[in-house]
Amino acid sequence: MDKLLIQGGFPLSGEVSISGAKNAALPILCASLLSAEALHITNLPHLNDVATMLRLIGQMGVEVTMDGNSGLILDSRGVNSPTASYDMVKTMRASILVLGPLLARCGEAKVSLPGGCAIGARPVDQHIKGLQAMGAEIRVENGYILAKASRLKGARIVTDMVTVTGTENLMMAAVLAEGETVIENAACEPEVVDLANCLISMGARISGAGTGSIRVQGVERLHGATHAVMPDRIETGTYLCAAAVTRGNIRLLNTSVGYLDSVVQKLREAGCDVAAEQGAITLKAPQRLKAVSIRTEPYPAFPTDMQAQFMAINCVAEGSAVIRETIFENRFMHAVELIRLGADIKIDANNALVTGVPHLDGATVMATDLRASASLVIAGLVAQGETLIERIYHLDRGYERIEEKLTRLGANVRRVR
Ligand code: EPZ
Repeated sequence: MDKLLIQGGFPLSGEVSISGAKNAALPILCASLLSAEALHITNLPHLNDVATMLRLIGQMGVEVTMDGNSGLILDSRGVNSPTASYDMVKTMRASILVLGPLLARCGEAKVSLPGGCAIGARPVDQHIKGLQAMGAEIRVENGYILAKASRLKGARIVTDMVTVTGTENLMMAAVLAEGETVIENAACEPEVVDLANCLISMGARISGAGTGSIRVQGVERLHGATHAVMPDRIETGTYLCAAAVTRGNIRLLNTSVGYLDSVVQKLREAGCDVAAEQGAITLKAPQRLKAVSIRTEPYPAFPTDMQAQFMAINCVAEGSAVIRETIFENRFMHAVELIRLGADIKIDANNALVTGVPHLDGATVMATDLRASASLVIAGLVAQGETLIERIYHLDRGYERIEEKLTRLGANVRRVR
């Protein structure tokens, strides 16, 4: 298994380009199942999760061809096997996003229940309830969701909580349903809007994406389209945190602050000078960050996917900060690893009290999930001495060429087998 070896203490400087958003690319790949005409997707990030999703829809009969640039052309004319097997779904929970499109396009689907994952139980009851409200007959047997619907019917759905992929699954199911669907308590994340924009370019009739109430008028069929995946706001925030904690001065290209106001605001509170120019963001870090408390909430509030990274920078900031995780029940697993590096963190249920220490000391640590591994990288960049991060396959799921981009910014990092 690969490991990442980091020699800490090098300020990040220079510029790197941000890749397409993983959490927009995954539902958009599934949207290709909705139309018999080709969907051309550009600005796709080269990530393990994207490769897994391509394998999954390929198994269903979607033809995938390169466009010679960095995009793909997906032709789902030959979709003939509406099944997502356990061995595929267990490696990536986002596989559940094929459920809505398969039901809408094929009238049936057999999708393995995603197991839990490191950060929580992560049930999919809201996906199932919403599809049942649209007339789908759904049974759960032997770990599989068995769904049938001759044609889904529009319905008014109110999800019990804000769910990103739940909103995305229901929106994709609704675009070919008969009549109007309204999704209340919908997720407002920018990735939901990017998916909606892609569906609209395919001929779907959607309004209200980005608000808590999404309205979809079903149509008979969708046509082909070309869509560029939005920039990855979490990758952007991760590099901003890495520069902030290493007294860095960086410029991130092909991205925008527009999707990260809550994170940029907290970085400014911590003492960073963050500026936005068209299509780029610059950050100049202070000599030492001030500790800043955060509370994760659905968009546009502080994103849970940036919580671990912010915990890492609070470890060496001046003062104490409280980090409250309100979305997932077990998303503090990076804390014990940060403590191995010398951090002072006290966990109480879904609160973490972080007291800044003068410095961290390099050690061997273990990644447990995608964003936890990002927080360990950030800590390693600022720790004195060497940090060795194990199980970095977690990192490869969501960060494209991370050691290459960090090296370009002046970090001393290399991948060891
Ligand atoms: C998406 O996961 C993202 N993944 C996650 O990013 C992100 O952390 C999360 O949204 C929250 O923003 C993708 O978009 C592929 P939820 P998702 O449904 O949709 C509960 C990363 O690091 N819930 O919004 O699975 C759930 O348990 C990943 O890139 C139900 O109870 O998250 C959680 O407590 C990690 N029943 C809360 O809602 C359901 O049917 C929010 O989950 C659905 C969700």
